[in-house]
Amino acid sequence: MTEQVGTIISTEDTPNSDEFHFVLQEPVKKEEFVEFDTEEGRAVARVGVVRKANMFFNNAESVSESSKQGVPLSEQFPTEDRELLIGKGTVLGVYQENGLVKRPSFPPSPGTEVYDAEKDRLADFLGLDQESGINIGEVQFEDLQAQLNLTKLMQKHVAILAQSGAGKSYLASVIMEELLDRQPEEGQIATVVIDPHGEYAGFADDEAYMDRVEVYDASDIQISLANLSARKFDQYFSNVTTPQKREIKKLLGELKSEMNKGEGVFDLEELEKRVKEAEMTKKTKQIWEDRINRMKYMNLFKRYDNPSLDRVEPGKMIVLDLSDIIGYRKKQIVVEYFASKLFKARRRGKIPPYFFLVEEAHNFAPENVSSSQAIARSTIKKIAREGRKFHASLGLISQRPVGLSTTALSQCNTHIILRVTNPNDLDRIKQSSEGITSEVIKSIPGLRVGECIVVGEAVDYPTFINVRERRSQEFDTGQELESAAKEYIEKEKQEEDDIDAFM
Ligand SMILES: Nc1ncnc2c1ncn2[C@@H]1O[C@H](COP(=O)(O)OP(=O)(O)OP(=O)(O)O)[C@@H](O)[C@H]1O
Ligand SMILES: [Mg+2]
Repeated sequence: MTEQVGTIISTEDTPNSDEFHFVLQEPVKKEEFVEFDTEEGRAVARVGVVRKANMFFNNAESVSESSKQGVPLSEQFPTEDRELLIGKGTVLGVYQENGLVKRPSFPPSPGTEVYDAEKDRLADFLGLDQESGINIGEVQFEDLQAQLNLTKLMQKHVAILAQSGAGKSYLASVIMEELLDRQPEEGQIATVVIDPHGEYAGFADDEAYMDRVEVYDASDIQISLANLSARKFDQYFSNVTTPQKREIKKLLGELKSEMNKGEGVFDLEELEKRVKEAEMTKKTKQIWEDRINRMKYMNLFKRYDNPSLDRVEPGKMIVLDLSDIIGYRKKQIVVEYFASKLFKARRRGKIPPYFFLVEEAHNFAPENVSSSQAIARSTIKKIAREGRKFHASLGLISQRPVGLSTTALSQCNTHIILRVTNPNDLDRIKQSSEGITSEVIKSIPGLRVGECIVVGEAVDYPTFINVRERRSQEFDTGQELESAAKEYIEKEKQEEDDIDAFM
């Protein structure tokens, strides 16, 4: 039995089947869980607001009168002794004898003793997986590890939403650690991360993780030209007419059949040569020469894919570090290509179940941007819609939920939300997060760095969690403005000194 924290009182309209007030005898905080017995079974409830009351100050006239007379009530009566804390609780569910949880249908009696929630019951109640869940931290105000069941967290996709600096990437790193540290018997999946800022590259330098992590940066990432269909050509390099498409399709077809006959894998130069030699209208030729020049400039289309599919392994992680890629289109192409390639491979059972985590998801699956500018969006949406059937899980991270594809976001059945203050983003979260109450929405702007709320599939009730400390080394988030400014001046001065010395 846990400690008694209070007793249910009767007020004008409580207790009823959903809500109750209780006078506190031990400190209890907002959002803490409590429990008590009802006729239907043991009820679990969440504490809402906690207020103070004092009978000596109930009457405005007597308070005002005593102040006027210069003798405050506190000097006349033992007012301090009469200060009470009164909590409001919302019943979440009732545990029946058969172990099932049901909605309460009957109010508790006034006078019912209220207890701190019991740990195992609470874990069960929240739907946590204490055996082999993904441990992202501790349930707030409870001595309980927030271990989220892998299937519930990921199979139907997860979104991590918060404003800049709230701790999204930190939390993502914690999740990566959990995936990398899983044992084979717990079920391991592969992780592939789209990392626009090179924040996760540090995993490959961390002794504890380096054997399971591979980082591919701008100079490593390659797309096999021979794997590219004519349709992708069109998708990547904006609109071409159907006859123009037909021409390139023909050339690619020829090159591919020669390759299959053992001629070796062709490259961009070979394709360029074929275009030059081919009989096509001047305009078509020019279009394709122009496209091929752009492709050459991107320095991305080569003979082979890198990373190749065989690098995707259970319990391992691939980081696609896009931080050195400046071109917006090139980044989009990389994301689209690998997203669709992985998904296709997974559908054919060629790679293990995997988690595809996209940082800055609003840039790759944006809302209200034309599809020629949002090359990766349709693929991300497709995985969002169909991925769960094939165990291709999507993780979308964004500091701009408003700018993120509604379809993609609404397919994420678990939302992990950290601090957000922008009203538009809050509105979007409210609309897209199933089961989120206005009470919970109200708490979001007040969250501190590293505090999150999990709603949706992964938990049976919205749960506040303090994200745990990470075990891996942290990405250097960069220098402070002040020190960068000082360093610049130092450097300038040094150069001047050098010149003086030289003269
Ligand atoms: N749970 C946590 N515990 C301790 N420190 C944290 C935690 N979460 C975040 N921080 C710190 O807060 C800072 C911002 O975190 P982070 O980079 O994860 O934010 P972000 O939401 O990804 O921001 P951005 O949108 O700019 O990418 C970092 O310095 C990080 O170390
Ligand atoms: Mg970040």
